[in-house]
Amino acid sequence: MDRRPIGVFDSGLGGLTCVKRVMELMPGEDIVYLGDTGRVPYGGKSRETILKYARQDIEFLRRRDVKAVVAACGTVSTNGLEEIAGDYPIPVMGVTDATATAAVRATRNGKIGLIGTKASVRATVYEEKILRLMPSARIVKKACPLFVPIVEDGRIGDGEPVLTMVAGEYLEELKAAGVDTLILGCTHYPLIAGTIGKVMGPDVTLIDTGAETAALLRRTLERSGALAAREKGAYSYFVTDSAEDFSRTASLFLGFHVEGSVKRVTLEDR
Ligand code: DGL
Repeated sequence: MDRRPIGVFDSGLGGLTCVKRVMELMPGEDIVYLGDTGRVPYGGKSRETILKYARQDIEFLRRRDVKAVVAACGTVSTNGLEEIAGDYPIPVMGVTDATATAAVRATRNGKIGLIGTKASVRATVYEEKILRLMPSARIVKKACPLFVPIVEDGRIGDGEPVLTMVAGEYLEELKAAGVDTLILGCTHYPLIAGTIGKVMGPDVTLIDTGAETAALLRRTLERSGALAAREKGAYSYFVTDSAEDFSRTASLFLGFHVEGSVKRVTLEDR
């Protein structure tokens, strides 16, 4: 058993959709969450900048003595995370492995859609992983840059006019291509899965990257005997912009009020 916390980070709040799954699957684990809210969004930035930020995020969590790091960010996971993961002595895991496996398992017609930030869609990590598992698969991608600001603004209810209009336009191509499985390639998107599902129709399976990754993390910790056996873990949150704003919006992502401390930090803080 390893009593050290699990570290999770994202550019902002989206990673909390993954944290929620980690809490459900591993209630005994302590969690340290870092949301780089001062620099969100990462999705329109260059690969070099995204990787530089990712290193700073990982270093910050390492200073909190975590036993594993989850990059609960589709953008970081598809923009070089795997190249730097080996530089650390603990598991550093992105969201693409578990997600690619789940998508291949779910598809019936081999047509898999991927939506995400511009940087995630520019990358080819998902194609590589999916094609390795299913060489006949066809992957149809679409960047949806407006989804993140819409979610961060809390406009997530089914029937929200702006969301419905934007989703209708973004998803048209994927519908026309006949995908039967759609990867929600950004950890913000589970919050608008209701609207996305309505636009895509009931025959399309939506894959939640955070949920798949939390399940993989549990298996990984279990295998190495590192699961904590407490009854209830403790949670702490760090952000790089206003802590008050975080607490308010975070409850939307978690579906309950934020428990535990929320602290504003700069990434050089120790
Ligand atoms: N949550 C991030 C992701 O999964 C998106 C937000 C951003 O653009 O920084 O890609």
